[in-house]
Amino acid sequence: MKDALPFTPSTMLAPMEGVTDPLFREVMAERPGLGVVCTEFVRISRAPIRAVHLRAEVVKIPGVPLSVQIMGNDADCMADAAGIVSEAGADIVDINLGCPTRKASKNGVGAAMLKDPDLLYKVLSSMRARVPGCLSAKIRAGWDDATHILAIAQAIEAAGANFIVVHPRLRTDAFKGVADWRIVAALKSQISIPVIGNGDCWYAAPALHLQKAMQCDGIMIGRPALRNPWIFQQMAQIRSAETPVHPDGAMVAAFLHDLMGRFCAALHVPTAPIGRMKEIIGWVGRAIDDDRLFLRQALRAKSIQEIQVIIDTMIAPLPAHAIDMHSEGLLQLEKCPENSDKNTEFSAVSRHPCAVSSHVHKSHVTRTDF
Ligand SMILES: Cc1cc2nc3c(=O)[nH]c(=O)nc-3n(C[C@H](O)[C@H](O)[C@H](O)COP(=O)(O)O)c2cc1C
Repeated sequence: MKDALPFTPSTMLAPMEGVTDPLFREVMAERPGLGVVCTEFVRISRAPIRAVHLRAEVVKIPGVPLSVQIMGNDADCMADAAGIVSEAGADIVDINLGCPTRKASKNGVGAAMLKDPDLLYKVLSSMRARVPGCLSAKIRAGWDDATHILAIAQAIEAAGANFIVVHPRLRTDAFKGVADWRIVAALKSQISIPVIGNGDCWYAAPALHLQKAMQCDGIMIGRPALRNPWIFQQMAQIRSAETPVHPDGAMVAAFLHDLMGRFCAALHVPTAPIGRMKEIIGWVGRAIDDDRLFLRQALRAKSIQEIQVIIDTMIAPLPAHAIDMHSEGLLQLEKCPENSDKNTEFSAVSRHPCAVSSHVHKSHVTRTDF
């Protein structure tokens, strides 16, 4: 029998280094429709664990569960770290098995661990022994091919994880191309723990279609939620048969001003709020149908005041139809998985989800192999 997802709604804000700090998580969690917020990864090396620093990662928001992500490959250190964050109140402890950077690869952590299902089984089992609550793993489709994805997922399941998040790109893909959601469907049909799909869900309605077609248990959204902070709300509204919000310029400007006020109040290095705002503007600007004029001007700004004026003059007056945040993705400024060649079987999959499992080589690894 398949297990149920341990939270609802079945949506997660993805872990994003440099973005999903407590302040940003709070801003997102204030909006309806978000099931779980995640910290960025915390690196766990073989050096003694500084419990105070780990506990400081556990900043919770009432009403929205917190997933704390740790990254490392030493079973004892990862178990200690998992125990500490769990005791400090993390609702979910997650292991990063997807980080594609050169540094992570050199240290044998993140996506590099996908090359060694035995090692990740060992590390996750040791974490399991110390986490009484929910344990999860976030993976990519593989290192340089997806052949071993099933062995990897089975190792994670056998180690006792409660669910798995799949960003179906290879480590070698980085962010190139479009996520191959057939892999999400294949895993869902082969393992018993819940599977969350992640990658390129730029618009709310197509994201829900994708979830249904791939029969996965939930959706994690990263960059698209920075680009359209209303996406989780739109998904919730579609689910409850309400008309989804389509933000106009005034709403987007109000969001950016609100965020800027919070960054200015919380960050005391004078240039820090500018850097944080430009990161978000870099994403929101992609949704403005103006040949990236706003984006270019805002990214050249030298002060918060300058950014404010640019938002007021270039964003606030815009009608909703000039902003690519419609729940159906009417302007289609971004490329979605269901429109990519890679996922041409999308419609076939929606009829026969198990038909795609042949794309992923079946593994002979079973629970008892470990
Ligand atoms: C700026 C940035 C930072 C990221 N940091 C992390 C991280 O700390 N841990 C992690 O597992 N994934 C990280 N990711 C990957 C995302 O969680 C997610 O898997 C990826 O962006 C694909 O999902 P999306 O298409 O919804 O953005 C990061 C992605 C971005 C863009």
